[in-house]
Amino acid sequence: MKKIVFFCLLQASICLGQNAQVIRGPYLQSVTPTSVLVHWRTNVPTASRVFYQAKGKVLEKLDTNRVTDHVLALNQLKPSTRYTYQIDSKSFVADRYVVTAPAFGSAQKVRIWALGDFGDGSASQKAVMKSIEAYTQGNRPDAWIWLGDNAYNNGKDEEYQKNVFDVYQQSFLQNLPIYPSPGNHDYGGKHDPSFPPYFKIFNMPSEGQAGGVSSLSESFYSVNYGPVHLVALDTEMRESSGMMLKDGKGEQVDWLKKDLAANKLPWVVVYFHKPPYSKGSHDSDIELDMKSMRENMTSIFEEYKVDLVIAGHSHVYERSFPMRGHAGVNETFDASKHVVAQSIAPNQYVVGPNGQGVIYVVSGSGGKVGGQRPGYPMKSSVYTNNTIGGSVIMDVSKHRFNLKWIQSDGVLGDEFVIEKK
Ligand SMILES: [Fe+2]
Repeated sequence: MKKIVFFCLLQASICLGQNAQVIRGPYLQSVTPTSVLVHWRTNVPTASRVFYQAKGKVLEKLDTNRVTDHVLALNQLKPSTRYTYQIDSKSFVADRYVVTAPAFGSAQKVRIWALGDFGDGSASQKAVMKSIEAYTQGNRPDAWIWLGDNAYNNGKDEEYQKNVFDVYQQSFLQNLPIYPSPGNHDYGGKHDPSFPPYFKIFNMPSEGQAGGVSSLSESFYSVNYGPVHLVALDTEMRESSGMMLKDGKGEQVDWLKKDLAANKLPWVVVYFHKPPYSKGSHDSDIELDMKSMRENMTSIFEEYKVDLVIAGHSHVYERSFPMRGHAGVNETFDASKHVVAQSIAPNQYVVGPNGQGVIYVVSGSGGKVGGQRPGYPMKSSVYTNNTIGGSVIMDVSKHRFNLKWIQSDGVLGDEFVIEKK
């Protein structure tokens, strides 16, 4: 008898779920080789249930607590495996799936999409998205990194709905793992990490479960994805000690050094919002946030042989030479001193055991576009564009790193290759 009552209660809870409407998502968070968090929102509180399947075997995950913001962990998955899934239903559809990350240690080739300064509801935002949809047809990105200013104007929950979820849901959010970083607009111009809805909407893998050193902070974390170590930092957060990333010290920087020192993967990409070098809509010579990043952080990236630092904030595309020791203003750049690279052809670098300089990319035109400050283009830039939006596709295999900047009109605007033996 007891069993029957329990069963009815359970069924009543699920029945309510069937009447509810999904009003956000589903979207995928903290994807690792063996797990994923599936997030979605319903218009009324319901139980959470996901059906998922691989190779015809259907599994189910249920949480009977009634909520509107649902987070369900699917665990014990197999690496590099595609699971179709569905909320509270077995009616699977082809474009609702998760592909788990490659097994740790795998050098499997991966494709990563980096997007910055996008959620403004503009025609350019949609054109950039369409350009990536078209460009990656048949070879979809495996992971998606966000460079901040994800939802204008103040990172409010309703701004995320209108300018992020309503735009990317169908094409990307239901099947592409996001590893985000926040910008000044996501923080509403503040520096208090308890403020941004960003931290409620997203779940970052901050306990080392996606690889890398545990940070225990959702502001900054790292992910081992195939042959690339991805490090997400937060340029906006002020620590209780008063320190920020741009100060070059504090908890975030201590963690970064530990994380980079522990890394064994062949490629390191560090990403965050405010760039150390830009002359687009923001000027790193005079804006203190960026000037301090240049003066206090670039030597750390060099010391740990970071391959690429990619940021947003400035609504342009800028790509630097591989550089070391350029901590001064734009005018002090001296190619004979600061470029550290062996180039075998234009935009094609080969690096030995001592590495090369760090390449800095600004890709802040995923929605917002334009701007230039005195001195644009920078002396340290190989290529710049402030007239059309775009975003970055990185194809990374064990010995080869290829970055492409795809414009919103579909044209390949810039490209370089690094080969490392
Ligand atoms: Fe910004």
